[in-house]
Amino acid sequence: MTSLTVNGTVREVDVDPDTPLLWVIREQLGLTGTKYGCGIAQCGACTVHIDGVATRSCSLPVGSLQPDQKIVTIEGLSPNASHPVQKAWLDLDVPQCGYCQTGQIMAAAALLQANPNPSDDEIAGEITNICRCGTYNRIKAAIQRAAETNRG
Ligand code: FES
Ligand code: FES
Repeated sequence: MTSLTVNGTVREVDVDPDTPLLWVIREQLGLTGTKYGCGIAQCGACTVHIDGVATRSCSLPVGSLQPDQKIVTIEGLSPNASHPVQKAWLDLDVPQCGYCQTGQIMAAAALLQANPNPSDDEIAGEITNICRCGTYNRIKAAIQRAAETNRG
């Protein structure tokens, strides 16, 4: 059995240690907000936070995690979608099809945690998630909106 701390709760899972974290999150824990896109750490659809750092869960063997490392998925980012990034996403109608968006939101939230006032260039450099619908400009605007909220 592997112990994981997910969204503040310790969970025990019975999986091969080589299983990517993404599949444990989705299939063992039933948290399907985290998406599968490429499976090779390129697209970012599977982004979660591990100890506050945006991490592509499709390429992370679950056996490499320690039980006390804090894994946060989109379901645990905030109660009632109240995180400033989630509010900004709603205000600016960022999603198109939506498939990439949980990964985008998790990447954005981690960026703002590390850098509360990013420039557009810093956003472009840090948010490397792919959106096939091309919502990049609205993602950038929403991150700036959330940064304004952070600044109060
Ligand atoms: S599914 Fe993980 S980066 Fe694409
Ligand atoms: S909103 Fe469709 S892939 Fe990004």
